[in-house]
Amino acid sequence: MSKKVAVVTGGNKGIGLAVSRGLAEKGFHVVLTSRNVQNGEKACRTLTSEGLDVVFHKLDVTQPAEIKELRHFLEKGYGRVDVLINNAGIFKDAKETPVLHTKIETIEETLKTNTFAPLLLCQELVPLMKKHGSGRIVNVSSGLGQLSDMQGHYAAYRMSKAALNAVTRILACELAGTNIAVNSICPGWVKTDMGGPDAERTPEEGADTAVWLATLPDRGPTGKFFRDRSEIPW
Ligand SMILES: NC(=O)c1ccc[n+]([C@@H]2O[C@H](COP(=O)([O-])OP(=O)(O)OC[C@H]3O[C@@H](n4cnc5c(N)ncnc54)[C@H](OP(=O)(O)O)[C@@H]3O)[C@@H](O)[C@H]2O)c1
Repeated sequence: MSKKVAVVTGGNKGIGLAVSRGLAEKGFHVVLTSRNVQNGEKACRTLTSEGLDVVFHKLDVTQPAEIKELRHFLEKGYGRVDVLINNAGIFKDAKETPVLHTKIETIEETLKTNTFAPLLLCQELVPLMKKHGSGRIVNVSSGLGQLSDMQGHYAAYRMSKAALNAVTRILACELAGTNIAVNSICPGWVKTDMGGPDAERTPEEGADTAVWLATLPDRGPTGKFFRDRSEIPW
């Protein structure tokens, strides 16, 4: 396929759905992935009914075998992947639970989805990006993971996003000079199932910086953290 291919995790709703729409509107062939087949296919139908070029592929990001299978699907189907949006995420911390009472199981579960899965996806898909000498990876992080503004509560989520930011930095350093850019974003407080009804932003506003980074020309920023298209501290 000559068209650029973008993979979005957790694309069935919220920010992931808005990023999928945004990338398809920019001319990408979007592989919208989700762990629930029905929800993912429904989201995909919504976008294709808008005339957008989107296909569904099942992916539970906590299942390494499904990540490997996704790589084979991309290799066989297109021979390429240009963009990876690591968007799927969970927020399991109960309100006001102090870190001293946070269950290690909660931290493990959160790290598995929010940190290890994006890394595993990079491990599988970066070699495919290297084959055609370019790629854009966007890790959907959070201001709650900023070490420069670290505060109490939501320990598992905060740790998972701070560690995801470390993945961004490490990978960006190791990929320097390859034309594969790796960045983190904070989407802001977004009205989704995770953000809740009182959040300030629409999913489209939350998706904007991810779409922007995914579509930047060569020699753009890498190894940075962004909100509203501006760099923010780690
Ligand atoms: N909303 C905010 O205010 C906010 C702020 C900062 C950062 N973020 C980040 O933005 C990203 C998207 O969040 P959102 O607000 O759009 O939340 P959301 O509406 O709750 O969507 C989360 C998405 O992640 C998917 N997901 C969770 N575990 C998964 C797994 N194991 N495999 C595959 N998909 C999985 C969900 O799938 P299911 O539908 O199957 O559950 C869903 O598609 C997350 O990384 C979140 O941490 C959000």
